[in-house]
Amino acid sequence: MKKTLFINACVRPESRTRMLAQHALDRMGGEITEVDLGKENIEPLRLERLELRNALQEERDFSHEMFRYAKAFAEADEILIAAPFWDLAFPAILRDYIENICVQGLTFYYTEEGFPASLCRAKKLVYVMTAGGPTEGMDFGFPYVDTLCRVFFGIEETACFKAEMLDVIGVDAEGALQKAAEEIGHSDFF
Ligand SMILES: Cc1cc2nc3c(=O)[nH]c(=O)nc-3n(C[C@H](O)[C@H](O)[C@H](O)COP(=O)(O)O)c2cc1C
Repeated sequence: MKKTLFINACVRPESRTRMLAQHALDRMGGEITEVDLGKENIEPLRLERLELRNALQEERDFSHEMFRYAKAFAEADEILIAAPFWDLAFPAILRDYIENICVQGLTFYYTEEGFPASLCRAKKLVYVMTAGGPTEGMDFGFPYVDTLCRVFFGIEETACFKAEMLDVIGVDAEGALQKAAEEIGHSDFF
């Protein structure tokens, strides 16, 4: 059965992004493994951790627990990221996760010509987000993830489903969420 990796960066228990993401999960199916970033406590690369990682990478010793996120990412067949729109991008817990999966020798390597090439199995990634206001021309979340997918992970098929303007007074937030859910339901991306 295909392995679906669900990267959940939805911080709030009542997260609307999480609710929207369920529609994508239902379409993706497979054997779903969730990484709930709010509960994982993933460390960013401060000096000590960076030096340890560099030394282990050099020895090609990937047995340390810090590499488990990169291994799971590399082995997934399909990936779903759910992240609310925070500060024009996404919550910092997702950035910390990304820092931990960009591992030379596990998720990508550099060719002799100096270009990054993928070591990941996935060919498809879905990104689900909701935003309090507008996002056009000011979203630095999905475009960043999309570029990482193409440059490092060899994931060429990406799609972003979103509901925006949800916190604007007078806006029909429920209607916007419903519309986004229907887009996911009818999309031929899956
Ligand atoms: C810390 C934080 C930062 C936010 N930054 C933005 C922002 O830059 N632009 C925006 O439109 N909405 C912003 N919002 C509003 C959220 O995008 C919006 O409420 C979203 O639907 C929250 O998703 P959730 O229901 O899944 O938690 C922010 C909310 C929080 C809590």
